[in-house]
Amino acid sequence: MQKSNVILDCDPGQDDAVAILLALASPEEINLLGITTVAGNVPLELTQSNARRICELAGRRDVRVFAGASRPLMRDLVTAEWIHGKTGLDGSDLPEPTMPLQEEHAVNFIVQTCLEAEDNSITICPIGPMTNVALAMMQAPQIIPKIKQVVCMGGAIKEFGNTTPAAEFNIYVDPQAAKVVLNSGVDFVMMPLDVTHKALVTPERLQRFKDLNSPVGDVCGGMLDYFNRFDMSRYGFDGGPLHDPCVIAYLIDSDIFKGREVHLDIETSSELTMGQTLADWWNIMEREPNAFVCDDLDHERFFQLLTERLGRL
Ligand code: BDR
Ligand code: CA
Repeated sequence: MQKSNVILDCDPGQDDAVAILLALASPEEINLLGITTVAGNVPLELTQSNARRICELAGRRDVRVFAGASRPLMRDLVTAEWIHGKTGLDGSDLPEPTMPLQEEHAVNFIVQTCLEAEDNSITICPIGPMTNVALAMMQAPQIIPKIKQVVCMGGAIKEFGNTTPAAEFNIYVDPQAAKVVLNSGVDFVMMPLDVTHKALVTPERLQRFKDLNSPVGDVCGGMLDYFNRFDMSRYGFDGGPLHDPCVIAYLIDSDIFKGREVHLDIETSSELTMGQTLADWWNIMEREPNAFVCDDLDHERFFQLLTERLGRL
């Protein structure tokens, strides 16, 4: 498999943290060019420092971490401390990071990295609101041909939303940004709640992380123990959904996932259904597909991959 040149755009968040760790543990498949951070689960000040905390946990002070947009394009910021806790990484107790935050703005980094790259060579993975990626595309549309693929976590197709009855968090927070990215014409892959609600950290899987007997295993165990409590009590799930690592697992082994080429659209005007993602699953409208939307995964294989990779750190 060809190695992906990845910009990971995130808002850590416990599940973002696991996605970062999975990327760092997978150098054969993932050439991590940089981590860009955005306001989402918690404000930007925390997402950028949390990303650095996680890199330090993995012993990777060399990774470049950039801070980007502190609010969505057009709407007020909505955060999710009710799920992730006040710090975004509640359940872990990581020290203040000492590795530097890059001075360059995340949007600038995305633009420059793409401009210097060959056509069709950069994979962008937004696992938070897509504000940074949309800003980069609006500022420099000439980056679009440089992008091989955008693989994002977001949306809900046949599943209900998790932030409103209609909308999933990442898309709800910045629906206009998601629409800019989708409508840019890039090769767009989406991991919605339909997939991630099947990637549950059951007590046995949680124990397997703890049994790694390493600092990474302990931190994942603690964070995910905390993260699990919300979905288990709210939805009666057998564990918390590990949303964001699905994006990285897709780059490593896309056969874990199933999906379909569909026409996808995003609601940006109705307050009632703001951020809803509408996939024309049965091609009712007979429009050209503009996205590959996943709706299922082999969850055993996903957790095997994840546990094995985290064990490498
Ligand atoms: C998404 O929202 C955030 O809470 C998670 O980090 C994930 O990216 C799930 O809806
Ligand atoms: Ca996230």
